[in-house]
Amino acid sequence: MLDSRRKAYLEAMGVDLYVRRDSVAAPAAPEAAGITPAAPLAVPLADGGEVGLHWEPLRSTVSACTRCELHRSRTQTVFGVGDRRASWMFIGEAPGAEEDRQGEPFVGRAGQLLTSMLKALGFRREDVYIANILKCRPPGNRDPKPEEVAECRGYLERQIELVGPRIIVAVGRIAAQNLLATDTPLARLRGRVHALGARGWPLIVTYHPAYLLRSPGEKRKAWADLLFARQAFARLEQGEQVVQ
Ligand code: URA
Repeated sequence: MLDSRRKAYLEAMGVDLYVRRDSVAAPAAPEAAGITPAAPLAVPLADGGEVGLHWEPLRSTVSACTRCELHRSRTQTVFGVGDRRASWMFIGEAPGAEEDRQGEPFVGRAGQLLTSMLKALGFRREDVYIANILKCRPPGNRDPKPEEVAECRGYLERQIELVGPRIIVAVGRIAAQNLLATDTPLARLRGRVHALGARGWPLIVTYHPAYLLRSPGEKRKAWADLLFARQAFARLEQGEQVVQ
């Protein structure tokens, strides 16, 4: 049932209320891709084994991180937010100015649109888990450098393992291409369920809200992506094989 607030969120997404189900792109063949291995965030055990860091040690490791140059210019690290057992995980690019100030992902203008997108899907921010590829703001909001992504990768991998999401949404080109280790344009990554990493986390790709703010005409496509993700999620919950 569409209440008035949900209608407002849908309108913020540029969505007509009669969006047809069949306007959602059909899933194409899933593509296996992977996060390339990074140093695991693990604590060595006396018997030679190791155990991955849990939430609080992971968070404090991130907040003290000096693995790349970005630590010099950050106000603070931006770890992640939301339900640590969420079924849905949203992964963006990197903190912007407002996120650097507040220490929380997606709280600036683009973040407000992401929040509307979530609400249009029926979620509150606290129902999902939100994180970024990078935990520190690149100066002037430039694109992340490959070495920065590489140094930060283990943190995100561990967050994904700890959350154990049923589905991941890569928000924007930078997140999608880095997660899937590809330079395929975002438009060609949409509308299919990718398998992320060795565990094959189901992952779908959509536009970044900052891009949608610049190109509001694309909001309909982003909405179609979210409906596609919801459909994929429902099929996964039924035990269907939507990812390979
Ligand atoms: N853009 C992102 O990709 N992440 C944020 O947290 C904010 C803006």
